[in-house]
Amino acid sequence: MEQAYIAVFDSGVGGVSVLRHLRRMLPQEHFLYYGDDANAPYGLHTTQEVRELTMAAVNKLMTNFSVKALVVACNTATSAAINQLREAYPEKIVVGIEPALKPAADRFPGGHIGIMATQVTLREKKLSDLLARYGENCTISRIPAPGLVELVEQGLGNTPQAESLLRPILESYRGKLDALVLGCTHYPLAEAAISNILGERTLLLDGGEGTARQTRRRLAEAGLLNGGEEMGTVRMEHSGSNPHFAELVRTLME
Ligand code: DGL
Repeated sequence: MEQAYIAVFDSGVGGVSVLRHLRRMLPQEHFLYYGDDANAPYGLHTTQEVRELTMAAVNKLMTNFSVKALVVACNTATSAAINQLREAYPEKIVVGIEPALKPAADRFPGGHIGIMATQVTLREKKLSDLLARYGENCTISRIPAPGLVELVEQGLGNTPQAESLLRPILESYRGKLDALVLGCTHYPLAEAAISNILGERTLLLDGGEGTARQTRRRLAEAGLLNGGEEMGTVRMEHSGSNPHFAELVRTLME
C-alpha cells in the first residue's frame, strides 16, 4: 500500500498549486493528478451538482487505481462534498483544503482581510463557520473573482489578460488589505497578477502548504509513507478534451 498513489483532485489545473507543495514535502510519493475539466468551473454549479460531480470523479479514481490517500485540492469540492467523501471512503485518508483564514487572522489581529473564492465556497457553511471562528476581531471582505478560473485553465493566470480582469475587482482594495486569502486553488496560479494590483503591503495566503503538511502527517500516522529511495512520479488524468492539459500541468508544476 505504501507504493499506492496519493490522488490529487481538482476541477481542473488549480490543484497544481497544492501538488507543488505535496511534491516538495513528499518527494518519494507517486501522485495521480486528476482534473475534472469537462465540468469546470465548479464554482458556477449548484452545491448539489458539485457534490455529485466530485463523488462521480472520485469513485472513478478509487475504482481504477490503487489509491492510499485522496487530497481534495479544490476549495469548492471540499466545501460541497468532504463529509460525503469521508463517509464513502472511511478506510482511506481523505484530506480537504480550507481557506487560510486562521493564519491570516493570527498574523493580523484587528486587521483587514480579504477572502477571494468561488461563489459556491463563499456561500457555503464551511466558510461561515471559519469566519465565525477566526474573523471575530478582523474586518473581512468577501471578494468573488468571476472569470479568473477560466483564464487559469487556459494557462493565462499571470498575464495582462488576468490583470485586466482583476483590476476592477481588486483596485479599490489596493494598499488597504493586510492579507488576501486565496480561497480557490486556481488563484495562487495568478499570484503575480493579483499582487501587481494590490501592491506589496498585502500578504497573499493560501491553504496549499497546510494541506500538504496535513497529508504528510496523516500518512505518517497510518504508517503509509513511501519509504523508497527513488523519486516519485506524477501521473495525470482528466475528463475533458483539452489536448494541452498534461503539458499545462507540467508547466505550472515547476
Ligand atoms: N480550484 C477550485 C477551488 O479551489 C475550483 C474552481 C472552479 O472550478 O470553479 O475552488
